[in-house]
Amino acid sequence: MTVHIGAQPGDIAETVLMPGDPLRAKWAAERFLENPVCVNEVRGMLGFTGTWRGNRVTIHGSGMGMPSLSIYTNELIRDYGAKTLIRIGSCGAMQKHIKLRDVILATTSSTLSTPSSGFFRELNFAPSADFGLLHKAFHVADARKMPVHVGGIYSSDVFYDERPDLNEQMVRHGVLAVEMEAAELYTLAARYGCRALAVLTVSDHLLTEEALPSEDRQSSFSDMVEIALEAAFA
Ligand code: HPA
Repeated sequence: MTVHIGAQPGDIAETVLMPGDPLRAKWAAERFLENPVCVNEVRGMLGFTGTWRGNRVTIHGSGMGMPSLSIYTNELIRDYGAKTLIRIGSCGAMQKHIKLRDVILATTSSTLSTPSSGFFRELNFAPSADFGLLHKAFHVADARKMPVHVGGIYSSDVFYDERPDLNEQMVRHGVLAVEMEAAELYTLAARYGCRALAVLTVSDHLLTEEALPSEDRQSSFSDMVEIALEAAFA
């Protein structure tokens, strides 16, 4: 047990899928895993371990934002031996050619700060996805004829953003989308020699102000779980 995860040693698989929402972790575990067992429910943050096509996998919520994801990711890696961590989540598109429901695979993520920024000090560390996972995820999405975009994203500290000028600069510099977790996930994976990837679907559009209806969010979420599982194991 750790401060935030009630699992016993050995309860967590080496491969962990991380949706932001704990109830999505439950839904995905029940829908996609064989014999899912709840391994964490501390503070309502749910984690489940089961198998997918014979491969052991944990689906564990990250919570919203980098400080929350950082707590769970640190403990999953350092205390439970997680080696491959794939975030599955939603994002807001920042480019005109990107449409609602499109899939985004983040090569890197820009930030104003992450929980790790304190010790990088003057260095602008460039957090990067694992290329092997990214390459497989791209081929899985492409084979399913899903519109998929690969490139840099922005991990923001705020959902209710008061910096339109900064968003304008990011649009101008080709940033694909905004979410709130990937940069810290990639940084921690780099620090501990793990593999990480963020697989995102576009739930809203910052330029057109469109948003996905809630029924579509469920099916997009299913697509991401399948892409993540195939990228990890297929
Ligand atoms: N901002 C931050 N995070 C997000 C957004 C957004 O517009 N959409 C989905 N996750």
